[in-house]
Amino acid sequence: MLAMNKIKILGTTAFVIAASIVITSCKDRRSTGWQYAPNMYEHIAYEYDQANPNFKDGKTAQVPPAGTIPIGFKRFDYPNNNAGYQLASTEVTNPLAANAQNLADGKALFTTFCSPCHGVNGQGDGTVVQHGYPAPPSYSKGQSSRGGAMKDLTDGKIYHTITYGVNAMGSYASQVAPEERWKIVMYVHQLQQQ
Ligand code: HEC
Repeated sequence: MLAMNKIKILGTTAFVIAASIVITSCKDRRSTGWQYAPNMYEHIAYEYDQANPNFKDGKTAQVPPAGTIPIGFKRFDYPNNNAGYQLASTEVTNPLAANAQNLADGKALFTTFCSPCHGVNGQGDGTVVQHGYPAPPSYSKGQSSRGGAMKDLTDGKIYHTITYGVNAMGSYASQVAPEERWKIVMYVHQLQQQ
């Protein structure tokens, strides 16, 4: 029985080796071999970094026409300077409904993105600060470096800060989408009262 099995195993191994030599010994080394669903190898669409004769500049990746914005994109036309910060403060208000769900989402987002520095209660005592990072002022008791008490920061000022950052705080625009920023703003207002 054992001898028979050994012969079978040897036979199978020899067959597999022979078969792989036949399959891999194609002359054209760049050939992909047998193709299943060939469109996956030879695209009909242009790759974005590929030359393209259909456009004047010969490139596939085109710059969007001036004045256009992506679908779903929310504009925030307040520049990253003090004038933009002050103007946002007077003109911009939270478009979201003040309800328990938005507040709970805001709390979760704040805990993820902001609490490492600002602390879970917004007192400027997050874990990063405990390791030597410059402490942000408390939302309820501190003073803003741009003037006024932190507890009086408006919707627009907080949104502007999340979008652009300020001094030691970087921009969170690429991590937190506009709607998420507004949920966070809602929760920061709650922390201003602590
Ligand atoms: C890397 C640490 C860090 C993180 C993370 C961080 N901040 Fe800050 N934040 C700071 C520091 C430091 C300041 C004080 C900067 C200054 O005024 O010089 C600050 C200031 C602020 C201010 C006051 C702005 C003003 O006008 O005075 C607000 C509001 C604020 N942060 C909100 C947030 C929110 C919301 C998040 C999360 C999306 C966040 N921060 C994440 C470090 C951080």
